[in-house]
Amino acid sequence: MLCIKNGIVVDGVSPKPYKADILVDGDKIVEIDYGLSTSADTVIDATGKYVLPGLVDAHCHLREPGFEYKEDIGSGTRSAVAGGFTSIACMPNTKPVVDNGALVRFIKMRAREEEAAKVYPIAAVTKGLNGEELTEMWELKEAGAVALSDDGRPIMNSRIMRLALQYAKGLHMLIISHCEDLELAGDGVMNEGYMSTVLGFKGISRAAEEVMVARDIILAETLDAPIHIAHVSTRGSVELIRQAKRRGVKVTCETAPHYFSATDEWVDGYDANTKVNPPLRTGDDVEAIKEGLRDGTIDIIATDHAPHHRDEKEVEYSLAASGISGFETAFSLAYTHLVEAGVISLPQLVEKMSKRPAEILNIEGGKLEVGKTADIIVVDLARVFTVDVSQFYSKGKNSPFHGHTLKGKVVHTIVDGRVIMENERITV
Ligand code: DOR
Repeated sequence: MLCIKNGIVVDGVSPKPYKADILVDGDKIVEIDYGLSTSADTVIDATGKYVLPGLVDAHCHLREPGFEYKEDIGSGTRSAVAGGFTSIACMPNTKPVVDNGALVRFIKMRAREEEAAKVYPIAAVTKGLNGEELTEMWELKEAGAVALSDDGRPIMNSRIMRLALQYAKGLHMLIISHCEDLELAGDGVMNEGYMSTVLGFKGISRAAEEVMVARDIILAETLDAPIHIAHVSTRGSVELIRQAKRRGVKVTCETAPHYFSATDEWVDGYDANTKVNPPLRTGDDVEAIKEGLRDGTIDIIATDHAPHHRDEKEVEYSLAASGISGFETAFSLAYTHLVEAGVISLPQLVEKMSKRPAEILNIEGGKLEVGKTADIIVVDLARVFTVDVSQFYSKGKNSPFHGHTLKGKVVHTIVDGRVIMENERITV
């Protein structure tokens, strides 16, 4: 038995935090009450700390199979646990692409072997991410895929997207859309605007994202099918989704921590760790993202953890790979820039990083209640620290937040009742 004592609990259900002990037997929560007297063999003293449901990430890249030099399921799931994520959904843009049942099963098997975070594969919408030929969605669902996405690439062909939404609806599967018009994005490398002009880079307009958000909303609306928009980064996208939700369209969406914590001004200095797709936008977009998080237009925060090798980042900006290693800074960025900054409350953060992502993916997690699986984190919200990528468990050290001071840190992570991170050290 495991007992987490004296913490302040945000359980994902009650509107307010409360002081309580949590007793875990095997992989289940068996009691939540104040002043539990117990003979548990393991006791975690959470005095002065907060106890939250394990975080759930609806969007990450684990790179296995095929790109193990960037990340593998072992390093990726340890990195996730270090960031407080107990369940993560990984994108299929691996080599080979996860477009068949055997690969879905392979990823699940590899994750079980590693015994860190629980992994839920997202499978491809089109074979080889070619944007043209639909995958066998039923086979993918049977194998355990929780959603479908061609993330990393858009589905440019609107007829294929329409068909995909239609089939997926019939199978009760969610399509997660990477919204990017490749023709409009062209060979841009950063947000199009004042900064791209100053730095002399080709820009990626907001329209490249927004026309596809608009298209996908229209398609989902006409079919009355659900759709989830990945990595929302612009004011215009937030407004399109806000209006669609008002009309009753079954659209949900996510943003990532870098879209409310950094702007295109960070590209000044040419640090390729600021290169990400969609690109970092302006201060005005950051404000709109925060407003979208506050009013519920943006349902969830996903990491879009996209680890890359050093060699792919230490090249000139235009040649560098896009992506940010995000697991190990996500909670602290959200706490610092959203909760400390007064944008949302801690219970709302739990909703956006745990409860809602679990609901959207239809997986367990997001709540601390008797009888539920013991996926729990303990966070120290008073802790101020400097991000140091050399301490990351991820192989991907590509973070533009290296050297930045943040507040709030995950200190213990419990997955299925097992303490996988204790005092910021991974135990498996
Ligand atoms: O920056 C990104 N990196 N955006 C994506 O959509 C894909 C991701 C990756 O796989 O590296």
